[in-house]
Amino acid sequence: MSTETALDQLKQLTETGLAAIAEASDAAALEALRVQYLGRKSELNGILRGLKDLPPELKGVVGKESNLAKKALESALKERQESLGGGDGASETDPTLPGVRPPVGHEHLLTSTSELILDVFRGLGFSIARGPDVEDDYHNFEALNIPKDHPARDMQDTFFAAEDIVLRTHTSPVQIRTMKKTPPPIRMVFPGRVYRRETPDATHSSEFHQIELLYVDHGVTMRDLKGVLTQFAQQVFGDDVDVRFRPSYFPFVEPGAEVDISCFLCKGSGCRVCKQSGWIEILGSGMVHPNVFRHVGYDPETVTGYAAGMGVERIAMLRHGIPDIRLFFENDLRFLFQF
Ligand code: DAH
Repeated sequence: MSTETALDQLKQLTETGLAAIAEASDAAALEALRVQYLGRKSELNGILRGLKDLPPELKGVVGKESNLAKKALESALKERQESLGGGDGASETDPTLPGVRPPVGHEHLLTSTSELILDVFRGLGFSIARGPDVEDDYHNFEALNIPKDHPARDMQDTFFAAEDIVLRTHTSPVQIRTMKKTPPPIRMVFPGRVYRRETPDATHSSEFHQIELLYVDHGVTMRDLKGVLTQFAQQVFGDDVDVRFRPSYFPFVEPGAEVDISCFLCKGSGCRVCKQSGWIEILGSGMVHPNVFRHVGYDPETVTGYAAGMGVERIAMLRHGIPDIRLFFENDLRFLFQF
């Protein structure tokens, strides 16, 4: 056999083989072609087997061409198989196989907890607004009656973005933005993310969520505050919880109060969650300070109002017995899918 004859033969069989593969209409036809062109009894295999008998000057060139022909046929087979839909030909069209269900997600517990809280206040006539996460010193502190050098600034460790520009440490600055834009009456809630420079642990996170409450009108009193917050606590924690207002200090309210609910787990007899006290703190509140009204151009002689602020994580942790705030932010599906 001359080099030309052997190479011609290879060229011929490769061309017819590739053409046939390109035309193959299903997996069975492809398999037949594989046997015909690459199988043990194929022409190509015959040439490969005969290589050892060729004179050395032919061996190299015919051997190389045979291998190229083999590779070309193999990859054409593979490509055609993939374009026919892969697999072994049996499963492709089987309509009796069970469907593949795409995984379906759901709301994050913090979203559903916020919605639950906002729904209670919507039902009480409050509307919802939002403010920016990046605040200036004036809205986050100054206008809330927390002047520079005031010791209350140390109550919250602040992330600074620039001089006098902070990541808001609470949602209270939205009170200021709202009152500056709108004359009273105001009956609104402000949900949002807040930031504090804290070392994360089971009860602290450098990012969390708050919902702020603001009601300003003529003749608003502390009774109104107590009524609304009692309603809120009972809708979120159960009709039978008692509510207790404990005097406390926040610069932007006077008087200020922390609100406790009776422990809904031990019913007041003392447990781990209420630290044996029978009471659980859920939020801060108070009557809007006259200085805050002055900053926004309201006359503290004619309007009064109340404000409150609560942590959404804290409410969710209490409602569901979640022991560690970091669980909300780790995106572990084993946690998230429980709610
Ligand atoms: N801004 C306070 C904080 O982040 C929470 C708060 C307390 C908000 C009392 C209020 C309030 O509106 O009256 O700790």
